[in-house]
Amino acid sequence: MAGNWKMYKTAEETADFFHQFNSLVDGNSRCDIVIFPTFVNLQTAVQSVANIPVEIGGQNLHWGKEGAYTGEVSSVMLTAVGCKWVLVGHSERRQYFCETDANVLKKTQAALEAGLSPIICVGEKVDERKSGHTEQVLIEQFAAGVAGLTEEQFSKVAIAYEPVWAIGTGQTATPEMAAEAHSLIRQEAAKRFGQDAADQLRILYGGSVKPDNVARLMKESELDGALVGGASLDPQSFSEIVKSA
Ligand code: PGA
Repeated sequence: MAGNWKMYKTAEETADFFHQFNSLVDGNSRCDIVIFPTFVNLQTAVQSVANIPVEIGGQNLHWGKEGAYTGEVSSVMLTAVGCKWVLVGHSERRQYFCETDANVLKKTQAALEAGLSPIICVGEKVDERKSGHTEQVLIEQFAAGVAGLTEEQFSKVAIAYEPVWAIGTGQTATPEMAAEAHSLIRQEAAKRFGQDAADQLRILYGGSVKPDNVARLMKESELDGALVGGASLDPQSFSEIVKSA
């Protein structure tokens, strides 16, 4: 269960969240829990989870180790601060910051080289769904952003299926719609990396996951977890989501 905090929370608010959240999920052994705070709050977050099984990740990275790239952060820096995970290719990065599938692949490779576990985000926009192009979009994103990994690299990534029309809109995909997309992604994975690798792949669903819809979604065996935005900002609501895993 992953919480994507986007551009929310100061350092103080980050510490406050964990102060409450840690006791709410104390003893959790049902699932892995990962939180993605903003870069400037990574250190606070890492320190806040020192004694509980919650891991921290970056929301983005640059593919280089270091260099003259003003405003960017590298995989090496994320690892050094204590991150274990990183999001790659979130739809907001694709939509507002020119993220391409080619960059997604480069960033994923850089993350893996530094020992981070990437969650690669894919998903169709509303017009693509309405015009019946969901399958094509997912196949293309997989082909350009994921298929270029080696088998060993692929065994270390997770994929998040996040239909863009469901993100932050309150319009969750139905469990059946999500399962259908996950199964398509798994088929693409099986074609490229073999059935075993595809069976092992963790595919998270993201897009308006809330405490009151998560159980229905998680009943689908194709859904291995959730990438949660808005509802991960509140310790009570995210702890309820974690408990539905
Ligand atoms: P949301 O965001 O849960 O607020 O829809 C999900 C995401 O962007 O990962």
